[in-house]
Amino acid sequence: MNYQNIVTTTENGIGQITIHRPSKLNALNVATIQELHSAFESFDTDATTKVIIITGEGEKAFVAGADISEFAHFSIEEGAQLAAQGQELLFDFVADLKTPVIAAINGFALGGGLELAMSCHFRIASDNAKMGLPEVSLGVIPGYGGTQRLPQLVGKGRAMELIMTAGMIDAETAKSYGLVNHVVPQAELLEFTKGIATKIMRNSPMAIGKAITAINASYKDGENGFKTEIKNFGKCFGTEDFKEGTTAFLEKRKPSFSGK
Ligand code: COA
Repeated sequence: MNYQNIVTTTENGIGQITIHRPSKLNALNVATIQELHSAFESFDTDATTKVIIITGEGEKAFVAGADISEFAHFSIEEGAQLAAQGQELLFDFVADLKTPVIAAINGFALGGGLELAMSCHFRIASDNAKMGLPEVSLGVIPGYGGTQRLPQLVGKGRAMELIMTAGMIDAETAKSYGLVNHVVPQAELLEFTKGIATKIMRNSPMAIGKAITAINASYKDGENGFKTEIKNFGKCFGTEDFKEGTTAFLEKRKPSFSGK
């Protein structure tokens, strides 16, 4: 598909989305959010794409936030609608995808950029990355899930401090907080991330999708994660992947998963 603000590529089962507005430090305007939704949806529905990696163009920024120029004059209703639409189209959509999504944070991940990275299933940062939720410095609060996902990842006290100070943390601090899983030199970021994607791809896509749903369940209103786990565990037994995985183990060979 032809996109204006993002570039998508596929290689060996890995779908890569690169946000491409380098002159605006890859800031997320509404058009970019819509394109990201389409790209994630088409990778998720393509059975040959096993893992999705999202990153930003250039050496400076993953995403420097929502595009401030777009919402500076919004009314109360327009502000609420911006947050609601963004959460539905992109941030919750990514968090709930059955295909694993890894954020490769290659520089600034601020505001909506960090919120996008936090929607992904996990994060890997380059050593120059800087992360923060600076919204209160603009007189607004995080609106793309940041007040919920940051405390889930780093704990309430750290989230309170980061949001209240509007400060930035470096990659090593983010790792020590559990916000990113690994920190690597910038030149190695994509290869390293693809290496982890390749390990994921050896496993059952069906089981991975069910594990994502079970892990996410404890963060959803009115859902009991343990019950979702039991239900999804049971469902696995009726799948081709389960038959293949257990048979391959007993036959001492590598499994070949269909994802069904
Ligand atoms: N929205 C819109 N435009 C943005 C942007 C954003 N969130 N972040 C950066 N840009 C634009 C700048 O306006 C500038 O555009 P211009 O060249 O047309 O003036 C361009 O990207 C480069 O940014 P600049 O500020 O000149 O780079 P810098 O290296 O001096 O500073 C940052 C980098 C990330 C510290 C700074 O851009 C910044 O603070 N951005 C906003 C971060 C933020 O508050 N995000 C949360 C939004 S809710």
